Amino acid sequence: MEQKFIIEGGRQLAGEIGIKGAKNAALKIFPVALMTEEPILVKNLPEIEDVARAQEMLAALGHNVKKLSGDACEIQYQSKRCVNLPAELVNKFRASIMFVGPLLATCGEAEFPHPGGCVIGAGTRPIDEFLDGFAKMGAEVAEKENHYRLTAKKLKGADIFFKKITVTGTECLMTTACLADGTTILKNCAMEPEVSALAEFLNSIGAKIDGAGTSTIRITGVKKLGGGEYNIIPDRIEAGTFAILAAAANNGEIVIQNCRPEHLEALWVNFDKIGIDYNLEKNSVVIKPSKKRLAYGIKTHEYPGFATDLQSAYTVLMTQAQGSCLIHETIYDRRLLFTDLLTQMGANIIMSDPHRVVINGPTKLYGRKLVSPDLRAGIALVIAALIAEGKTEIGNIYQIERGYENIVERLRGLGAEITKM
Ligand code: EPU
Repeated sequence: MEQKFIIEGGRQLAGEIGIKGAKNAALKIFPVALMTEEPILVKNLPEIEDVARAQEMLAALGHNVKKLSGDACEIQYQSKRCVNLPAELVNKFRASIMFVGPLLATCGEAEFPHPGGCVIGAGTRPIDEFLDGFAKMGAEVAEKENHYRLTAKKLKGADIFFKKITVTGTECLMTTACLADGTTILKNCAMEPEVSALAEFLNSIGAKIDGAGTSTIRITGVKKLGGGEYNIIPDRIEAGTFAILAAAANNGEIVIQNCRPEHLEALWVNFDKIGIDYNLEKNSVVIKPSKKRLAYGIKTHEYPGFATDLQSAYTVLMTQAQGSCLIHETIYDRRLLFTDLLTQMGANIIMSDPHRVVINGPTKLYGRKLVSPDLRAGIALVIAALIAEGKTEIGNIYQIERGYENIVERLRGLGAEITKM
């Protein structure tokens, strides 16, 4: 039977919560392992469904992932290789596309269906930037009925300008270019901290990458990469989500430990505008109950702008703020559709178009029976349920557990009344 979260709202939330390793950094390390015959030790690995899928993918391609004690694992090369990405895994998470470049660079071919993941963009989320990039690096791209076959005797360095800023696209081409002949220059790159972290690791195992974290990245191809240790950075989206939860509950002091507050500047400047009382320390954030919470709008933007992955949680917070504001989601077409569920809970939200909603607050929220549409909308519903009056039931929790480790226990640690059934 499908499992659910049952949440009894309105409890006081206070105490400490620690941040796990970043999902969107963790997922990118497994494909890199295809490019070296030496072991990679991964530390601070979050135990979430998407990471399990990435490990299964690597195993299907012939590598061994050995779980070590705590939150570490070691990826070991084995001689077996396969160039087909299994459809059942590709369908489950979009970052599976990251495996394509390393396969192409090391085996000369790769075959895969169109990748899955959260249904948050129009139709299926496009992969044109990846395909165009591989083609520029000399690959033949054959496409038939949503299935792709890429071949390349030897990839070569290229000048590539991303028409759209893409995080995984930047990471994928940057990684692939490490084993191409010559120099690759990537322009209009994503500047997310996960991109810089990946580049830093690749450099530590022998790559030559300059400029990651800026909009232009220069990669000089090398003959081979070695082994090393990757310590996953704290998940900035988890940290931001819990900070927003604390601000939305507003009834106790919450300390968010093991995070990097400097990765969330766009959130803190909004907190200043709303009137949230918070303190930033080097590796932690303290959110205190605030006297007032004023409505203040956001427009999502690539890093360092306001992260689309925090929009849904922020939208819930705005249902508790005084006044009206506009939430403008610029990255994905379907990421505001979940606001209909907040309206069912009692929020006053008017959708102007798929990219814009106006929220009038504050409004009381009431427990309802809901189904999580995707990962970030799912955690927003959890926040809404925690501050609502009465009981909320949330179905399709796979879509929440994909990205938040052991969320029930961790929220209980703050005093939440949440159970998984
Ligand atoms: N896009 C294209 N063509 C492409 C690639 C992207 O048009 O070939 C478009 C997308 O449709 C979207 C925009 O470019 O409109 C940005 O997409 P991007 O490629 O940056 O997204 P992503 O790399 O697939 C990562 C995170 C997302 C996060 C976005 C934006 C991973 C595995 N995923 O996605 O995380 O929302 O960057 O920051 O790193 C999540 O964690 O819930 C999540 C969806």
